[in-house]
Amino acid sequence: MGEAVDHSLSRLVPEDISSIVAYLRSVPPQRSPDLPATTAPVAPASHRDGVTANARGKQVFASACASCHGWSGESPVSPMATLTGTWAVNDPAATNVAQIVLSGTKRHTPDGALSMPAFGHAYTDDEIAAVANYVTARFGAKGSKLTAKDVAELRQQTAE
Ligand code: HEC
Repeated sequence: MGEAVDHSLSRLVPEDISSIVAYLRSVPPQRSPDLPATTAPVAPASHRDGVTANARGKQVFASACASCHGWSGESPVSPMATLTGTWAVNDPAATNVAQIVLSGTKRHTPDGALSMPAFGHAYTDDEIAAVANYVTARFGAKGSKLTAKDVAELRQQTAE
């Protein structure tokens, strides 16, 4: 989505934006049994509170993620990096969480570049699955159960 905004949607003229909004409002809502009904509230500020299982995922989060995303899920760096309430952490498949950890991301905002480093070379499939499961359990409504095999498949898709 970030790339769609940078390369395309940010360049729309106001009439096009109004047309898209008018169209979206005309589409009737549809129920989806796959989506969690609610998103999780902000997690505790201290790493000692909240999710206690998954020591390995917690360890990776502490060394690679907490500085930018915070233990509460509300980023101390940028509101764009707040994890609380995002679709990614509330998706029990955790695909986007693992994907962004593998590949990182870089976006251009009016306030300058915003980036997250790629961790695909720094961590094993097992560690990436563990941190993705930790992140969805701590910040999302339903935890994920990603395995090292799932991460290996994602790596392969990314390389293709
Ligand atoms: C240097 C800061 C930094 C570090 C370290 C970092 N991230 Fe990020 N992360 C960001 C930023 C900035 C964004 C928002 C990018 C965007 O909006 O395009 C982001 C986005 C995300 C998202 C997507 C949220 C959404 O809106 O869908 C997830 C999930 C995520 N990070 C997880 C992690 C995990 C897990 C780690 C550790 C392995 C990590 N991040 C390490 C800066 C960081």
